[in-house]
Amino acid sequence: MAFYLKNKTITLSGLLLFTLFSCTNKEESKEAAVPKKVHYEMYQASEMANFMNAMYAYNMQLKNEIVAGETPSLLPLDLLTLHSAEMTKGKQRHENWEHFATTFITSQEAVIDTVLQTNLKQRYNTAITNCISCHKTVCTGPIPKIKKLLIP
Ligand code: HEC
Repeated sequence: MAFYLKNKTITLSGLLLFTLFSCTNKEESKEAAVPKKVHYEMYQASEMANFMNAMYAYNMQLKNEIVAGETPSLLPLDLLTLHSAEMTKGKQRHENWEHFATTFITSQEAVIDTVLQTNLKQRYNTAITNCISCHKTVCTGPIPKIKKLLIP
């Protein structure tokens, strides 16, 4: 870390990298709060970040299927991971996390519910809107990327 402090340019580009690839957020300060089993390298993706990227890929696949007129019926991800995954150092679940996570999970499950009569595209867009709702409260960085999942 001392190395970074000596060179402002490197510190700045490091910070820029950090902001680009994760949420815009405060410095890593609360490391001591959660006991860690795994040692993470700087910038290494957290379990939660990996899970988010898997959800992104899954929903991109759903979008392609729905646009192609298909009816998706598979959900290969364990959405309860939202409640358990370790997050990037310094990030914590806020007090409304439970609410946002549960609302999102219900809407994501509704996309593959073939019994539901409501419009499939609408159900899918509701799930993506719920991704964005949580992100507005906790992690604004990826919102423009998530918006690309919406079906116009
Ligand atoms: C309950 C809140 C919540 C919901 C719902 C949610 N996210 Fe996230 N998302 C987060 C948090 C918090 C992070 C930061 C995780 C970390 O850095 O450990 C994140 C990170 C991300 C990232 C960046 C991952 C990276 O490489 O740093 C992407 C992309 C993302 N989410 C997409 C999505 C998509 C797509 C959905 C819906 C299918 C979604 N998120 C639903 C809270 C949420």
